[in-house]
This record gives sequence, structure tokens and C-alpha cells, in this order.
Amino acid sequence: MTKLSDFANAKLAELEARHLRRTLADTHRTDGIWVNRGNRKLLSFSCNDYLNLTHDARVKQAAIAAIETYGAGAGASRLVTGNCPLSGELEARLAAHKHAEAACLFGSGYLANAGIIPVVAGEGDLLVVDELAHSCLWAGSRLSRAEVLTFRHNDVDHARELLDASRAKYRHALIVTESIFSMDGDAAPVADLAQLACDADSWLMTDDAHGLGVCETDGDGVDLKMGTLSKALASYGGYVCADRAVIDLIKTRARTLVYSTGLPPASAAAALAALDIIEADPDLTVRPLRNALAFTDACGLPRAQSAVVPVLLGDELVALEAQQMLEREGFLAIAIRPPTVPKGTARLRLAFTAQHPEDEIARLAAIVRDRILPLAIQA
Ligand SMILES: Cc1ncc(COP(=O)(O)O)c(C=O)c1O
Repeated sequence: MTKLSDFANAKLAELEARHLRRTLADTHRTDGIWVNRGNRKLLSFSCNDYLNLTHDARVKQAAIAAIETYGAGAGASRLVTGNCPLSGELEARLAAHKHAEAACLFGSGYLANAGIIPVVAGEGDLLVVDELAHSCLWAGSRLSRAEVLTFRHNDVDHARELLDASRAKYRHALIVTESIFSMDGDAAPVADLAQLACDADSWLMTDDAHGLGVCETDGDGVDLKMGTLSKALASYGGYVCADRAVIDLIKTRARTLVYSTGLPPASAAAALAALDIIEADPDLTVRPLRNALAFTDACGLPRAQSAVVPVLLGDELVALEAQQMLEREGFLAIAIRPPTVPKGTARLRLAFTAQHPEDEIARLAAIVRDRILPLAIQA
């Protein structure tokens, strides 16, 4: 009989040989941008804390107060233990922010996507999904048992072709995309996809994990506006905003809501405090994109469309070497490798935040332009 640990060791050795093994490195995020790793202090370009609110005193204080009032954990599923008042308050605020009738919180963004899609699509339905959609959108798609067709990244004409050829065979159809792509940082053509959904008697779902609080494009014509509390909102948890009946159905049927413990009160409180700041301080929310643009302009890369900028290197080993080079220069910029990104597109994924200092962005840009981009050309 094969021992499970022998199987695991063989698998790990195979991944190691292909430069695809991943390990966790203890890292102390000391404030919104600086981290301690080993005995080094590094400026992080690998956190999705786009507005640096995870360390904001108002956000932390709100989380502490919620623990004092409601305890550290939710106790059970919200349908069983009862709904923490902070969850209802946050849902109302998110719905208002996204100009929707109602919202539903989940334990994480991943759980949200794994739960929402199977509620609205099942056997006999069609999902038309952008090829670069996040892993959890695929997880939800597969769990739904609906037929899944993939359209080329951001190619509305291709999505239209697929729907024209297949729509009539299925009861309902749902188009699924990210509004800002997590690994490429580009924006989906949301308005065009909304028009397509309307033309093709279909619904549209967007995942705004990387747009909320930075560059939000999930506007009119989006039936399911999903997002996460874990990036600009500096907390943990997921949400979806939609018409009230849709949310009521999700609250009745989404397995990752019904069979999973509710969000810790501190997470809801922190997200509420962050949302207050986002809505009151537009000058803050423009800064991540402004910093990303300063970087792409200095490097000669395509202009940033969001806080996320990919530096495409292709080969996994080259991406790991680039990560190490930047670490020697005092920057944390993690190499992203398959299967997170398609084979042959390993990269550094840089996340720009409100507080990144201008001079450090310029120094990073010079290193990327002069020493890292040439590695991609040689590879
Ligand atoms: C596009 C996208 N959707 C969903 C998620 C999952 O969100 P969470 O981290 O809250 O589980 C992520 C997280 O990385 C993401 O990038």
C-alpha cells in the first residue's frame, strides 16, 4: 500500500523540479506597507490592502469594540445562531454603496463565489465565463453542474458568439467575469457585457474584489455584484449585492452560507469602519491607481487600469529570480506562477497602495525597467 506521506513527498518533489512548489514564509505586517521577513524589513508590493486600512486606528478600534460587545466568533451559521446586528448593518451599507436593493455576506470571497453561482445556475443552465476568471468563480461554476463555456479574456464578441450558438439549448444563462482582473489588473468591459446579457436573455455577474474602494466599474446592468471585504475594506469576508428577491433566495439556498458559520463580528465592524472612510475620503481612494500609473509610466509598461500591475516574465524560474532580486533591494514582490496564472505567463504581480512613497515607487520602477524586464526578453 502507498503511504499517503510517500505520495505527498513524490508530488512535492515533482512540483519543486518544475519550480511550482509553494511555501509559507512568516511575515509580520508591521503597518500598512512595511513587513518584517526573516531579519529583513521590506516594502511590500504584495498586499491587497490597497488603502492601508488594515492598520488604521479607526478600523482596528471598531474591531476591538465589536469583540468586546459581541464576542470573538459568530457561534454558528447566521440562520441558526441568529444574525449579528453588525452583519445586517454592513449588508445595508454595501447594498447602498453598490446601488442595489440588498446584500448578503459570506465567510470569505471564495465562499461567496462557491455559494452564489450554484443558487442561480444548475443542470440545464449555461455559464459563459472569462478564461482568466478567479479560481473561486470556477469552483462555483463547477459546483453548479451547469454547462460551462469559456470566452477569450475580455472578448465580448467571443462571448456573444458562444451565446448565439448555444443560448437556445439552455433554460438560463449567466455571464461571469471579474470587473478588475486580480492577476492582470485590467478592467472588464462591464457595460458591453451588460448589453450582451440584455441582448442574449442572460444575467451578468461581476467579481469586484479588486475594484471596491479603488476603481469600481460594476454599475448598471450587473445582476450579481460580488466582492470581498478582504482587500480595500481591510477585513475578511465576502458579499454579493443584488435585487432583494435574489438575495432572499441566496440566503435560503447558498450552501456556503447555510452550512457555514457567520462572519466574526470584528470582521463586519472593521469593514463597516473602512467603508465609512472610503465613502468620506475620495482623495484616499484615488491614490492606489495614481501610484500604479506613476510606476507604469516610469517603466514604459502599458498604463495601469487599477492598483494591480503585472510584470510578465513568462518562465517560472525567471519570475522567482526577479522576486529574489527585488527582495535584495528591499522590496517584497511575490512571483505568481501557474496554476494561478496560465502556463508561460509567470510574473511579478505588483499591488500599489495609497501610502507607497513616491521615491520608492521610482526606485522600484528603475530596477524593473533596467534589470527585470530585460530578463523577460532574454527568456
Ligand atoms: C477576484 C477574486 N475573487 C475572489 C477572491 C477571494 O476573496 P477572499 O480572499 O475574500 O476569499 C479573490 C482573492 O484573492 C480574488 O482575487
